[in-house]
Amino acid sequence: MRTPLIAGNWKMNTTLADAHVLANGVKTHAEHLEHIEIVLCPPSIWLTEVAHMIPSGHFRNLKVGAQNMYCADSGAFTGEISPVMVKSVAEYVIIGHSERTHIFGEKLPLLVNKMRAAFDHGLTPILCIGEDTKGSESKRHLVHLLNHLLVEASVAEIERLVVAYEPVWAIGSGTPAAPDYAEEVAATLRQVLTAKTRILYGGSVSDENAPLFLRQPNIDGLLVGGMSLTLKPFLSICKMADDAVISHKTKQRL
Ligand code: PGA
Repeated sequence: MRTPLIAGNWKMNTTLADAHVLANGVKTHAEHLEHIEIVLCPPSIWLTEVAHMIPSGHFRNLKVGAQNMYCADSGAFTGEISPVMVKSVAEYVIIGHSERTHIFGEKLPLLVNKMRAAFDHGLTPILCIGEDTKGSESKRHLVHLLNHLLVEASVAEIERLVVAYEPVWAIGSGTPAAPDYAEEVAATLRQVLTAKTRILYGGSVSDENAPLFLRQPNIDGLLVGGMSLTLKPFLSICKMADDAVISHKTKQRL
C-alpha cells in the first residue's frame, strides 16, 4: 500500500515567527499520525530554520520540501537556489507548480532539467501537472506532458516520484475539482507511472473536502496551499488521512 502524503505548500506566505509556530505545531502532532507522511514546504528563506526544527532523516513521517529550485549545482544564477543547497536541508522539492510556469514563465525543457537535477541529487520531486481551464479535454494532454517530463527517468525514479494533479482553475479558487473526476485523471496518469508512484490531488483542498479525495483509490494524498497556513485545518486534514489508513486496515482484517 502507498503511504499517503499530505504536503503543505506555504507559497510566499508566513513570517519567520509564523514558520516557527506552524512547523512546531505540526511536529508536536506528527508522532501520532504514524500512518501518513507529512511534508512542509516553506518559502526558501525559511528552509534552514524549519530544517533545524525538522532535521532530514530525523522523523520517519515528517519531512521538509523546497517549493522550487534551479537545475545547476552552483553558479551565476541570481536569486535561485540549487539542488545541492536544497539537499542539505530538505528531502522533497516541488517542481513545475503552475505559479512557476504561469507567472515566471518556466517552460518544459527547464522542468525536464529540474527533474533530472532532483533525481540526481537524491531529492524526491513533487511534480505538479494540471489543465488550465475547467472542462478542457485534459487527460490525453496531461499524459503527453508526463511522458515528456519523465522521458529520461528510470523505473526506480518514477517509483520514488510524487505527482500532484493540480487543475490550475481549482488552485486558490475555493472550487476544487470533483473528487470522482480527479480520481479518473489520477487513474489515467497512473497508466504511465507505476503502482508505487504516489499521486496527490491539489487545488482548494480544505478540511471539509479532504475526505472526498482521500477515499479515491488512485489519490494517495493532498497538496494543500491556503489551508496549510493555519495549524488547525492542516492538522485535521492530516488526521483524516491517518484515520483513512486505519479504517482501511481495519476493513481488510475483518
Ligand atoms: P490551494 O493551493 O490549496 O490554496 O488551492 C494549492 C497549490 O497551489 O498547491
